[in-house]
Amino acid sequence: MKQGSIGVFDSGYGGLTILDGIRQRMPQYDYIYLGDNARAPYGTRSFDVVYEFTLQAVQKLFELGCPLVILGCNTASAKALRSIQQNFLPEHAPDRRVLGVIRPTAEVVGELSHTHHIGVLATEGTIRSRSYNLEIEKLYPDSTIVGQACPMWVPLVENNEFDKPGADYFVKDSIDKLLAQDSLIDTIILGCTHYPLLLDKIRRYLPSGITVIPQGQYIATSLEDYLRRHSEMDQRLSRGGTCQYFTTESATKFRESASLFLHEEVTAQHIALN
Ligand code: DGL
Repeated sequence: MKQGSIGVFDSGYGGLTILDGIRQRMPQYDYIYLGDNARAPYGTRSFDVVYEFTLQAVQKLFELGCPLVILGCNTASAKALRSIQQNFLPEHAPDRRVLGVIRPTAEVVGELSHTHHIGVLATEGTIRSRSYNLEIEKLYPDSTIVGQACPMWVPLVENNEFDKPGADYFVKDSIDKLLAQDSLIDTIILGCTHYPLLLDKIRRYLPSGITVIPQGQYIATSLEDYLRRHSEMDQRLSRGGTCQYFTTESATKFRESASLFLHEEVTAQHIALN
């Protein structure tokens, strides 16, 4: 049987926080990361466009030999995952699997919250899709979920401004707007893969006693559990401990920015998606 790498896709750099979490837990596998940096951000794009772009990326990762692809992007998970799973895979790639990040995050949040009042900070696209509300309510029907779009947070991270004083205003503003919607919130999901880079500032403006959930570690645990339950997929994954990086933007630019997310130097290759 021909084995392949685990593919991790994101609109840009944010999925590196997911990849990092997964690799820390399961360093034995081979990975291919694909960032559609040339067309990021996805957060304000329509359902149709996010689906089209995400499908192109998934097909490319399949061409590169990945039997399993993780959409390490909340926006793509919210807007494209279901259609890919239900409409594309059965006909075009029945032996491959595509998983997202929203369901595993929803699973963990109900266990961490005591008040069952949950806040979601995410891109406009993810908040509008109400994907977190739907997934959490399915699992924990008694929960109250409120969301707040943070349109400035991804640009702050992508432009390397996330630890500068100017970012404080936007971080505080979005947190205040979220908490104003529901004073009983005790758990907040960072529903965008870029946001862990803002974690220090987020904690600064949150009242103590509120738990913040960055996703990387939970996606890793969930994937490990998935592979334990699906040994047929696990056997199709190669184990060399390697990681290749592809970007639709310039490889040099990717290398410079990726080090902010990974704290290590990586080399990347340019790849075209359409
Ligand atoms: N990485 C995306 C997410 O998790 C956000 C970036 C974007 O808007 O493309 O939602």
